[in-house]
Amino acid sequence: MLDKINRIKEEIGSFKAAGHAELEEFRIKYLGRKGHLNVLFEEFKAIVGEQKKEIGQGLNELKTLLSDTYDRFKGELDSGLPVAASNDLTRPGDSIPLGSRHPISIIRNEISAIFGRLGYTIAEGPEIEDDWHVFSALNFPPEHPARDMQDTFFITKQPDSVLRTHTSSVQVRVMESVPPPIRMIMPGRVFRNEVISARSHCIFHQVEGLYIAESVSFADLKQTLMFFAREMFGEKTQIRLRPSFFPFTEPSAEMDVSCTCNGKGCNLCKHTGWLEIMGCGMVDPNVLENCGIDPDKYSGFAFGMGIERIAMLKFEIRDIRMYFENDVRFLKQFTSSF
Ligand code: PHE
Repeated sequence: MLDKINRIKEEIGSFKAAGHAELEEFRIKYLGRKGHLNVLFEEFKAIVGEQKKEIGQGLNELKTLLSDTYDRFKGELDSGLPVAASNDLTRPGDSIPLGSRHPISIIRNEISAIFGRLGYTIAEGPEIEDDWHVFSALNFPPEHPARDMQDTFFITKQPDSVLRTHTSSVQVRVMESVPPPIRMIMPGRVFRNEVISARSHCIFHQVEGLYIAESVSFADLKQTLMFFAREMFGEKTQIRLRPSFFPFTEPSAEMDVSCTCNGKGCNLCKHTGWLEIMGCGMVDPNVLENCGIDPDKYSGFAFGMGIERIAMLKFEIRDIRMYFENDVRFLKQFTSSF
């Protein structure tokens, strides 16, 4: 019996587990219910006399050796580190692949930096908002058809809670709490009840901006946005303002930038030579009043753009869904340091 025990000890000494399956085989063969160890203990019961002590000792050593070996390989396989190498302090470390910033973050940072140069600071607010900050304070009264432009998700378990459809809600919060002059941008995630397609998503990101001081004019708005467009898309960029409607600005406009095809016509601008990038306008005096700012003393402008849209134009991304799929082949293409 002692011979058997020694033979098994030798076998174990040269055992190497290449994978979990092999280690499991090892466990069943030696440590299993019908494995070698149990069989030996069974046989041991029949042993009498002087030999009993020596064999018992040998058996116990075998048992410890088996469970130590098993634990060691289990630890190695679970951690992915070879047992021998884990003791080698001169071994080079495992390399950690360096990630890259998400294109949405890159563009958000770039927009923030451009407005930062004009003295704008950053304001943030909650994504789950109340009706007042998303709609009512901004001149969308309950039941008003303008609300259809921005259908959202309502949180039924918590009355008066909606997912914000724009970061204009943060503008309201700022106006309610900060006395003018105000010069801030509001980046953040927004939500709309939209069918998901290549061009629209129910989650996207915005940067909105707000400037309120004494005698701010439409000329200031235009100059600020032209500066932004040229910093973002190149110094030759032209802008165009088209009259539009938002409940919270009057007058309101959509801003287009000239396409890089220089009006020759391409797929991106659909042969118009222009790309729409944001909404803007002079803050409606009603909105100022709703937020406790005297419209006779102060005026201001606001603007808002979708970060996905700007990134699509800059990086020529064709499908908005790619931003949220977390496909590393897509994400690793963006290496900007912004
Ligand atoms: N809040 C508007 C939107 O999300 C954008 C906007 C902001 C328009 C400020 C005008 C002024 O569509």
